[in-house]
Amino acid sequence: MTPATSSAIRRRSVDESRPTLPASTANDPRTIWRERFHAVRAETERRAAPLSAEDQVVQSMPDASPTKWHRAHTTWFFEQFLLIPHLTGYRAFDGEFAYLFNSYYVAAGPRHARPRRGLLTRPDCAEVAAYRAHVDNAVDRLIADATQAELPEVVRVLDIGLNHEQQHQELILTDILHAFAQNPVAPCYDASWRAPRSRSSMDYVSMASGVQNVGFAGEGFCFDNEQPAHQVFIQPARIARSLVTNAQWLDFIADDGYATPSLWLSDGWAAVEAEGWAAPGYWHKIDGAWHALTLGGRKPVDPAAPVTHVSYYEADAFARWAGKDLPTEAEWEVAARADLLDDAFGTAWQWTRSAYLPYPGYRAADGALGEYNGKFMVNQMVLRGSSHATPAGHARMSYRNFFYPSARWQFSGLRLVEYAG
Ligand SMILES: [Fe+2]
Repeated sequence: MTPATSSAIRRRSVDESRPTLPASTANDPRTIWRERFHAVRAETERRAAPLSAEDQVVQSMPDASPTKWHRAHTTWFFEQFLLIPHLTGYRAFDGEFAYLFNSYYVAAGPRHARPRRGLLTRPDCAEVAAYRAHVDNAVDRLIADATQAELPEVVRVLDIGLNHEQQHQELILTDILHAFAQNPVAPCYDASWRAPRSRSSMDYVSMASGVQNVGFAGEGFCFDNEQPAHQVFIQPARIARSLVTNAQWLDFIADDGYATPSLWLSDGWAAVEAEGWAAPGYWHKIDGAWHALTLGGRKPVDPAAPVTHVSYYEADAFARWAGKDLPTEAEWEVAARADLLDDAFGTAWQWTRSAYLPYPGYRAADGALGEYNGKFMVNQMVLRGSSHATPAGHARMSYRNFFYPSARWQFSGLRLVEYAG
């Protein structure tokens, strides 16, 4: 699912030093979960490894968190929701960490203010590494010692924790790129990083219309916001096979897209004026040529690559300029399930014009974990697919990402749709 990306992202997280287990042990669910847990935990550390202690403490805006905080917060998540309720006799690594590393779980107690995460020089990186090791050992113990009766609930919460940590793995990269973008010397995260190539085509393909099924209805993990699966009505439409490219975006710029108020939503135009937007995030002109700060440092904008780091407002204005529309999230999912989309996954998240709302009949779970998704279902827009920074195995047809319409520090792009008649 990752056509071309940094070697740091491409290298997967399997601990190859581990001995091969006998078949009888390898098929044991506890072994499988322990291996899965360590693979995900190792991937976080691998993504943090190129970053110095100074890199890891900086917070460049309230929406972005320091790498060190991501490493600690994902660890607190296992401590808070898995170990404290389920591992008898578990002792928290440090009683103050719950305050420092709780993100937004009101039911889990008071927490440090989000915009001030970058002020936490202590605990230092070594202590966060020790925190991670402490929790890793305890989770190993819980997986080994849970009774057969306890194991299903342990595994359910463990799986949420792993998927949660994978979400933060992507944020480690998007957040450090935003931090590096504040630095005039344009730091490089991974010198071997290459822009993902998209399969560029101007084709629009007809998709199934009428009553269709969306949402998660299979086996395995999904987030609660992907359910209940339900029926939707799809208007006759043709969807772009490819993502919008930088070349197309350059045409939009050249046609004064950023200087034409009639193309923009009112809030979008206000953002253009307030932020001085004249190009996607991280673009700068050098000697008359557009360059972009990437995970591989500053590079000339590649016309063939999909555009990224555009907000919903920009995606919406581009669609209006092109005489098309952004697909709804249901249209995107129906088209993706029919295998009509190139680069649906692994290149760039794709804005849809769907507000992030609960599916019919959705109810958030009781307790603090019920705060995971449900309380954010207002004022944000849904993105579908996944990006080249999304960890392997994390994407799904029914996956719903969501951000505020002004956000553009994610690897967010778009594809278009056109309606019959
Ligand atoms: Fe989190």
